[in-house]
Amino acid sequence: MSRRSCSLIQCLLPLPLLLFNLLMMSSLLQTSQGDVGTAAQYSPPYLPTACYNDSASQFPSNNMFAAAGDGIWDNGAACGRQYLVRCISAAVADSCIADQVIQVKIVDYALALINNPPSASGTTIVLSETAFGAIANNSAAPTSINLEFQQV
Ligand SMILES: *[C@@H]1O[C@H](CO)[C@@H](O)[C@H](O)[C@H]1NC(C)=O
Ligand SMILES: *[C@@H]1O[C@H](CO)[C@@H](O)[C@H](O)[C@H]1NC(C)=O
Repeated sequence: MSRRSCSLIQCLLPLPLLLFNLLMMSSLLQTSQGDVGTAAQYSPPYLPTACYNDSASQFPSNNMFAAAGDGIWDNGAACGRQYLVRCISAAVADSCIADQVIQVKIVDYALALINNPPSASGTTIVLSETAFGAIANNSAAPTSINLEFQQV
């Protein structure tokens, strides 16, 4: 069998697919500056935290804070880091608040939360109620949402 036995159409068929894939990849690279992960929501009591124990002054006044999941906890080095996060999709349709980007401060470790919600297991980040509600409908919280995140 010759390797050139395909017709012209058959031989060229993969080409449009390849071009399409390249286009998709380049548009993804242009529109997304961060990584993709998942987020859950946790509820009070928020104290004590794995980062700052009982200090009340650790929370930003706008209550945009979060607990780091294993992927970003970095052995505690994540404490105090700031992340930009944006909801990109959710299991419950239309739960994301479109194009809403917020900045959260890491104050805790997801696996050490007093009120560890089942949905937090394995997520990138667990957001305070205020932070979660700012980028998604809180009623989506029983499951995790997908987000784009980037360290500031
Ligand atoms: C956290 O704060 C409590 C109450 O102030 C204190 O008893 C405890 O030793 C502190 N824990 C750590 C790890 O500093
Ligand atoms: C949030 O979701 C609930 C349940 O699906 C829905 O009833 C409510 O209207 C939603 N709120 C907003 C602001 O979209």
